[in-house]
Amino acid sequence: MKIIEVKDYQQMSNKAAEYIIEKVVQNPSIKLGLATGGTPIGTYKSLIEDHKKNGTSYQKVTTFNLDEYIGLAGDNKNSYRYFMDDQLFNYIDINKAKTNIPSGIAADFQDECNRYEDLIAKHGGVDLQILGIGSNGHIGFNEPGTSFASKTHIVKLAPSTIQANARFFKGMEEVPTQAITMGISTIMKSKEILLLVSGDNKKEALYRLMNGEISESFPASVLKNHPCVTIIADKAAIADLKVQC
Ligand code: PGA
Repeated sequence: MKIIEVKDYQQMSNKAAEYIIEKVVQNPSIKLGLATGGTPIGTYKSLIEDHKKNGTSYQKVTTFNLDEYIGLAGDNKNSYRYFMDDQLFNYIDINKAKTNIPSGIAADFQDECNRYEDLIAKHGGVDLQILGIGSNGHIGFNEPGTSFASKTHIVKLAPSTIQANARFFKGMEEVPTQAITMGISTIMKSKEILLLVSGDNKKEALYRLMNGEISESFPASVLKNHPCVTIIADKAAIADLKVQC
């Protein structure tokens, strides 16, 4: 894993956007894996600014998001479909038909998981997956204890995840308790992974990722087995790595 240190959230966002833009320019039909949450918002803003200024085109790009809440339709402001439209897709020239997110209102959620997993495979897999990390080490909604062999599946969200995500809802009781997420093996099949880590509240997770053992009790640790991971982390997140014992 290669780690790039940046000053702060803004620099992380700019650097991540530069990284993605370079890949899109090299391969206009790239399959991008996208993430939601607070971490990538700045990156998406930078992509939008670049699109306006430099005209980087996403017309041929296909995207696969990591996850979606079960029970939320795409027009629900807290759904990840709404998030992606609102934070990125509505402001670039991407073809919405090429943007894929699991459905939170499927008739049969297990069928939806299978459909999503097959769809990614049919497209030849994700070329570049953007990831955030949960303070408990989750990637996507793969909570501690998830099998490294997991494919796209239904998850029960950990109480800490519900609490962390409550800031986007009116209250904790409104946060859905289940989601569909790409599995860990799905994520690991991406040809390349870009992990973004920002802020004090992620420093323990980053420390454990860099120094801990590879274990299903800390899902992000699986990334050490991936041949091509770049981490962009800001000073606040990296702080614990620098403590000398
Ligand atoms: P955050 O979440 O970007 O909102 O901190 C990251 C994650 O839970 O994967």
